[in-house]
Amino acid sequence: MSAELREMVEGYLASSFLDSDIPARLSEAMRYSLLAGGKRLRPVLCLAVARACAPERADELARAILPFAAGLEMIHTYSLIHDDLPSMDDDDLRRGKPTCHKAFDEATAILAGDALLTNAFSHMAKADVPAQPLLEAVRLTAEAAGAAGMVGGQVLDLAGEGQKLSLEELRVLNAKKTGALLFNACECGAVLAGASPAMREAARTYGAELGIAFQITDDILDVVGDEATVGKEVRHDAESDKATWPSLIGLEASIDLARKHCSAAEAALEGLFSGPDAEFLRETARKLVNRTH
Ligand code: IPE
Ligand code: IPE
Ligand code: MG
Ligand code: MG
Ligand code: MG
Repeated sequence: MSAELREMVEGYLASSFLDSDIPARLSEAMRYSLLAGGKRLRPVLCLAVARACAPERADELARAILPFAAGLEMIHTYSLIHDDLPSMDDDDLRRGKPTCHKAFDEATAILAGDALLTNAFSHMAKADVPAQPLLEAVRLTAEAAGAAGMVGGQVLDLAGEGQKLSLEELRVLNAKKTGALLFNACECGAVLAGASPAMREAARTYGAELGIAFQITDDILDVVGDEATVGKEVRHDAESDKATWPSLIGLEASIDLARKHCSAAEAALEGLFSGPDAEFLRETARKLVNRTH
């Protein structure tokens, strides 16, 4: 199920920016980071939630909103390029390859990120759904990616270096920097499918719970993972004195907390979603704590 959706996303991303009038070096840098083999979690969640909301038109709906879902991956990839910059996390490895600023140069990496973010909205606007839900999903996405969402979370993350945050402060930081793009992907899937307010709310809760669990496991992988499998530098959070879950509550409690949020994610779907896509969403929540990359 997810393999099929992931293939769709890969296909769309691979053909994006091919025929545009983009300076060669910029287009190379954008494609270098975008096509480096990420998990495609956000677009796949968006497509799967949409299909789970309207199983009777699953295939048609997935095709219609594919450009929107691909746009979410472009925004996510931009966030990673900028996250890795020397002035932010200063990382050399991403998705198993040198980071964008290492493979190209810092200015090109900044601009490749800018371009992916901006062009993402042009792709999202191409989704073949009625204007009102599309406009709503675009608005939600701008909010989730922006100052009160992911970008705000990144600011809190950098300010948190060397600080001992409270549990609540770390939860807010995580909800913004990672949770926002994840719950937004899920909520937009519901909005674009024309789902009921109850389904939309459930999708948002599912994504928000998954979002916290996802960052907890990301923090755990930095402690226990190996570079080749994770595809990025490990033991880097401690080096930068980042505010992370393992540093605040320890490894075991972090694993338990991730499990708790995954169960809450699964519970949010109960009674509203059915069919193979709903099962995929449940399975995603169940398997999250065991992820190795
Ligand atoms: C990494 O996201 C950044 C975080 C929000 C923790 P992913 O783990 O989804 O990265 P890719 O897209 O698979 O490379
Ligand atoms: C980044 O969190 C979240 C983003 C918004 C990109 P991290 O800094 O922990 O992500 P990784 O570990 O570098 O992927
Ligand atoms: Mg970071
Ligand atoms: Mg980072
Ligand atoms: Mg990390």
